[in-house]
Amino acid sequence: MPERQLHLNAFLMGVGHHEAAWRHPRTDPARLGDVRHYQELARIAEDGGLDSVFLADGVQVWGDVEHTAAQVFEPITLLTAMAQATSRIGLIATVSTSYSEPYNLARWFASLDHISGGRAGWNIVTTAGDRAAQNFSRDAAAEHAERYERADEYLRVVTALWDSWADDAVVVDRASGRYADPDRVRDIDHHDRFYQVRGPLNTPRIPQGHPLLVQAGSSHDGKAFAARWAEAVFTAHQTVESAREFYADLKGRLADNGRAADSLKVLPGIVPVLGSTRAEADRLAAELDELIVPVRAVRQLSEMIGVDLTGHPLDRPLPQLPPVAAINGAQSRFALVRDLVERERPTLRQLLSRLGGGRGHQVVVGTPDQIADHIELWFGTGAADGFNIMAPLLPSGLSEFIDTVLPILRARGLFRADYRGTTLRDHYGLARPVDGFATLAAV
Ligand SMILES: Cc1cc2nc3c(=O)[nH]c(=O)nc-3n(C[C@H](O)[C@H](O)[C@H](O)COP(=O)(O)O)c2cc1C
Repeated sequence: MPERQLHLNAFLMGVGHHEAAWRHPRTDPARLGDVRHYQELARIAEDGGLDSVFLADGVQVWGDVEHTAAQVFEPITLLTAMAQATSRIGLIATVSTSYSEPYNLARWFASLDHISGGRAGWNIVTTAGDRAAQNFSRDAAAEHAERYERADEYLRVVTALWDSWADDAVVVDRASGRYADPDRVRDIDHHDRFYQVRGPLNTPRIPQGHPLLVQAGSSHDGKAFAARWAEAVFTAHQTVESAREFYADLKGRLADNGRAADSLKVLPGIVPVLGSTRAEADRLAAELDELIVPVRAVRQLSEMIGVDLTGHPLDRPLPQLPPVAAINGAQSRFALVRDLVERERPTLRQLLSRLGGGRGHQVVVGTPDQIADHIELWFGTGAADGFNIMAPLLPSGLSEFIDTVLPILRARGLFRADYRGTTLRDHYGLARPVDGFATLAAV
């Protein structure tokens, strides 16, 4: 078996990633609010041996309530329930650095890591858009660069909190009544631009040391941040060329941060629209397309890229889009759409169909062999260390991927047969951080 193996993460979203998944007869929208649905998804992914499951999150209503299936649960609570239904698979939750406090977040992920026996991961996002800000007593989101400056300081605080208990701080000496060694637990005394935090954390050191740190913004500032902090990066690309460029750029930044190239895994999203024949896969793609509600899709696209396209005629090409630097929203997703528009000059309707399946992630329609070929090409030619598997319909699309594509990847020696460890870090081949207590003490 070759040394380098794929990393596969099941990106879960309600009853499927396609924006009209809840309308398709192969899904059951009643399950959106049923915790057993998500526990079943986690078990399917774990039976398939995938590295992790992942839940995205926002702190505002996403899309429009009239046409969008609601996200019923927030990720930490839901992953805690999923942890109880599984024993091996990693559990990655999104939480925003712009709208949470480091002390709260350090506790949430410490709890999830303790509860799951070392399977917690945090997808760090800075959150674009003013609607989220307006739920947190502000009129507008902070400037793009400032959001990342805050995120950087946030990471310094939370990692210090996770390091505020030494690995051996808890002694549990019942005879003497000594529960912990006070010399092995310390304040962090953080005082800087955004945060003043005394510490220590009120939770002993967690099984993984730190949860796995994942990041999902691919702008210029996002990449600089990822190169400092992230151990896995979720990203969206439409072409293998743009994915390769991103991969090389990000890996190239690691050395400047004193990091090895394999200490960060790059995982682009892929939406596999599967059929046993190409015609069957095309049929499913067409069925899903048919179910898109254009007025909803235009609103969601406008929100996603931060440019108002409502009122633009569906069958006309897109207007000239502004330069990336002018966007204060999610810059990387805007850049992806802008490139696609320049390259293909689609009408608005054609663009909606391109994006409806995966909001900008690569949609691959085909047979299991064709999907496996695609994965192998990206993995083997410097575009990816693995993938975010984004099934258009859930649970059926995830089961089909596991039952039909995984055996091909395994036969080609690209994906391990079984788990090789017990923690999420083990699955991604990432070391447990050294006991940071000593470093913290020196500071
Ligand atoms: C796979 C993937 C998942 C993401 N999940 C979230 C999410 O759950 N919540 C969120 O606010 N942003 C999420 N993002 C990030 C946004 O799309 C956006 O890039 C980011 O918030 C802004 O950063 P940027 O300007 O550096 O692109 C995700 C991105 C990717 C590629």
